[in-house]
Amino acid sequence: MSIQESIRIVPKGSVAFVEFDLLGEKVNKLSSPVMVRFKEVFEELRSTQYGAVVLISRKTRNFIAGADIEEIKKLSTKEAYLEVLKKAHAIFNAFEDLPIPTIAAIHGTCLGGGCELVLAADYRLCSDSEETKIGLPEVKLGILPGFGGCVRLPRLVGLQAALDIILAGKSVEGRKALKIGLVDECVPAQLLESRALQLAEELIAKAGRKRRRVFQPKGALPVFLESFVGRPLVFSQAKKALLSQTRGFYPAPLKALEIIQQTYGWKSRAQALEIEMNGFTQVAVTDVSKNLIDLFFMMESIKKQTGVSEAAAVRPRVVSKMAVLGAGTMGGGIAQVAADREIDVRMKDISLEALAIGFKQAHSIFKKDLERRKITRFALDKKMGRISGGTEYVGFKSMDVVVEAIVEDMAVKKKVIAEVAGHTSEKCVMATNTSSLSVTEMAEAWPHPENFVGMHFFNPVNKMPLVEIIRGAQSSDEATATVFELAKKMGKTPVVVRDGPGFLVNRLLMPWLIETLFILEEGGDVEEIDKLFTHKFGMPMGPFRLMDEVGLDVCLKVIKIFNASLGERVQIPDVSVKLKECGRLGKKNKKGFYLYDDRGKQLQFDPAVYLDLGVGAQRRKIAEKEILERGLFLMINEASVALLEDHIVDTPQSVDLAMIMGTGFPAFRGGILKYADSLGSQYIVQELELYASRLGIRFKPSLPLQSMAKSNRKFY
Ligand code: NAI
Repeated sequence: MSIQESIRIVPKGSVAFVEFDLLGEKVNKLSSPVMVRFKEVFEELRSTQYGAVVLISRKTRNFIAGADIEEIKKLSTKEAYLEVLKKAHAIFNAFEDLPIPTIAAIHGTCLGGGCELVLAADYRLCSDSEETKIGLPEVKLGILPGFGGCVRLPRLVGLQAALDIILAGKSVEGRKALKIGLVDECVPAQLLESRALQLAEELIAKAGRKRRRVFQPKGALPVFLESFVGRPLVFSQAKKALLSQTRGFYPAPLKALEIIQQTYGWKSRAQALEIEMNGFTQVAVTDVSKNLIDLFFMMESIKKQTGVSEAAAVRPRVVSKMAVLGAGTMGGGIAQVAADREIDVRMKDISLEALAIGFKQAHSIFKKDLERRKITRFALDKKMGRISGGTEYVGFKSMDVVVEAIVEDMAVKKKVIAEVAGHTSEKCVMATNTSSLSVTEMAEAWPHPENFVGMHFFNPVNKMPLVEIIRGAQSSDEATATVFELAKKMGKTPVVVRDGPGFLVNRLLMPWLIETLFILEEGGDVEEIDKLFTHKFGMPMGPFRLMDEVGLDVCLKVIKIFNASLGERVQIPDVSVKLKECGRLGKKNKKGFYLYDDRGKQLQFDPAVYLDLGVGAQRRKIAEKEILERGLFLMINEASVALLEDHIVDTPQSVDLAMIMGTGFPAFRGGILKYADSLGSQYIVQELELYASRLGIRFKPSLPLQSMAKSNRKFY
């Protein structure tokens, strides 16, 4: 495809429209050839007789999605990054320095490099469409705005608004962009082009005035915060907030803050861009950035996958109607997420009281969205209108999918599933949300076991992005692809796993949780261990806090199941039994390792737990390295069996994606297996052997891990 045709100068009277429509691609990206073409275009515009320039996209929903991340991924040295950045700056500066006024007419996503390009224009107009999003998401990839965004955005919208966008990697819609001064006008999408032309003509009539808009704070507080006394305060507050949110694990936003502090209002454009470039190269070469970019690609690839092999060539069935059995914690949550994504959903429960709770749960989530102005009252009513409910199987004949979320009991589930079959069509796909039972066995109760799959959502459903799609022994490609697509439609990240105890995520999570219980028995300090995993390793929640959340009785049940099915690798700590005996169930009864108030808010650690468990109040110092390794290496050991022996999933990427999305395993580490690779299989095996000789057989390195260590292989 000719790049010349992708970016063209189209004359409209004395105005030059620069039209961008990257041929052969869904979205406009700033790849190297595109940048070269922009260079030519800007050079041409310097010497022609046009009076003004309008930069516009010819994609329907996208202005410019950003720089080409495939290209960024291929770079590895600071020098290579510098070369790219220098070229980009020269091109953006050339745009900024054109002798005639420049206008960007923005409709659709205008992100990263795209946003940085429009910051170099004299005027920005945008559409008020929901699809218009302008922002700088770079920090989410472990990098920072390196095409001038750290320099130009604060000068345009002021410090506070710029930090809000850059440090959080945020984007804003048209009206918000207007409010903060990021654009000059926000108009209906149909009028965008004509208004841009009109403005260009007005500017030409006023003798082609260029301008450099500089932020002018209004009101006493903004004026103070922009003053020389106020600015240090803004920077120190922003740094404090960043450190508390990221615990210092993510260097990019901190570096961006530092760059802005060094350049805002002080330096010439050339000096400021130089500082930005150097800062960019420092974060771009880190493993954090590489890991976050890999994660981005994994997420992108899910968008294109069907959940089954390409060779199967099946099409997922379209799901427009679904039912949920059980309106409890999970059923209510699943119904809410489905309705949010415009799927009509019917809840069926055995009691009206339970249904009322399900409706209330869905409503309260939408209400929070309303309070945060994410949705309007009208939208709330419309979304709630998609959920219906009852105690009978009304409308089940037309259901495309039924998701079962009733009590976790095989006999009950089988009985209910067989009952449902009498009310649905032959093609209906039945999906169980079980967290621990065999999908293959449960499918026996469904007359068409090929239409039976697992669809394991995580709690809370509206917040947790992962759905494990479990293929039972008889699940068909079509049924698997159908729920895979449904999960995506619900805004989730599906990962296909094979049937087996705990599927993937819980199977890997449990050895870690169990090991911390053993460490507690040996004298480990609950609060210290939780803090170690959150503050030093980056987990979102410590193991004891997490066990409280899951329910200590549920944990015991799962430990017993795993002990029976996974053998010597999973043993039952005495304290796990005692916890239940002494009535500590966790958050649900307000008493676990921690105490909770009526609304489930964590109050404090409860030291009486040591006495209840008979482990002695006196705690012993156990080396941090040992605590981390025992928990994490057991997770890795289990992952090696699940991946390489039991083939629960096919790739290390699936393991890492599932653990990041399902447990919040630190994304900056790239997932558990990336982390394992960073240490090397030989080291892990050597340590496991040492722990095994001291603490027992549960540490015995698995055969696949031993074989990896012998030839010093990695998971990736
Ligand atoms: P829950 O106890 O909150 O809700 C279960 C609901 O099912 C109740 O409203 C009950 O009235 C209803 N029910 C019972 N028998 C029924 C029948 N014959 N027909 C229709 N409804 C019936 O349970 P929860 O926590 O929502 O769990 C449901 C399923 O989801 C279980 O299989 C569980 O293992 C699984 N799960 C639970 C997670 C959690 O964190 N709670 C996470 C992931 C999966």
